Amino acid sequence: MKQTCLLKDCSKILLTEEEIKVRVKELGEQITKDYQGKEPVMVCILKGASVFFVDLLRSINLPVRMEFMAVSSYGNSTDTSGVVRILKDLDHSVYGKDVIIVEDIVDTGLTLSYIKREMLGRGATSLAIAALLDKPERRKKPLEVDYKGFTIPNEFVVGYGLDYQERYRNMRDIGVLKEELYSK
Ligand code: IMP
Repeated sequence: MKQTCLLKDCSKILLTEEEIKVRVKELGEQITKDYQGKEPVMVCILKGASVFFVDLLRSINLPVRMEFMAVSSYGNSTDTSGVVRILKDLDHSVYGKDVIIVEDIVDTGLTLSYIKREMLGRGATSLAIAALLDKPERRKKPLEVDYKGFTIPNEFVVGYGLDYQERYRNMRDIGVLKEELYSK
C-alpha cells in the first residue's frame, strides 16, 4: 500500500518498510540468542516505540513480558530538554527482572539515560536498550544502545511510530520530514 497522503510531506524516504522488517527480525533473533533461559521484561516507551515494539516482540522466540511506560520531556516539538516526567508508569515491579527498554530513537540520549537510571534504581537485575534508530551526532549524554536498528544522520524523521505533532505514526516507511513543515 502506497501512503501518498503521508509521504508527500517527506523530502525523502530514509528506510523502507522492507528494510525495517529485515532489521527488526535480526534484532529479535539476537535477543533470542542472548536471553536463552530467561524471560525478559520488554518495556515499550510510548508512543513512538509502539510499532517497533510489537514487531520486535513477535520476532523473539522466548517468553517475554510486556510493559508500557509513557514519559514526556519538556522542550519544543523537535527538540528535547532532558527534564523527563513519567506520565504512565509500569504495571509491575521490575525488581529482580531482566529488563529490555524499547525505544524508537536515541537523539540526545537524555530520555533513555533517565529511564535507565530509574529502572536500575528499582532493582532490575540487568538492563539493555533496544532502539530502532540512533542519531549519534546529537548525543548529549553517553549512552550505549545494545540492540540498534540503524544509525541515521541528524535529520528529523517520521513514520513507523515516530511522529511530528502526533502525525505520521502510521506511515510504514521512515521518511525525512520536509523542513518547511516544522521550521516555521
Ligand atoms: P532524546 O532524549 O533526545 O534522546 O529524545 C528521544 C525522543 O525524542 C524520542 O523518543 C522521540 O520521541 C523524540 N525524537 C528525537 N528525534 C526524533 C525524530 O527525528 N523524529 C521524531 N521524534 C524524535
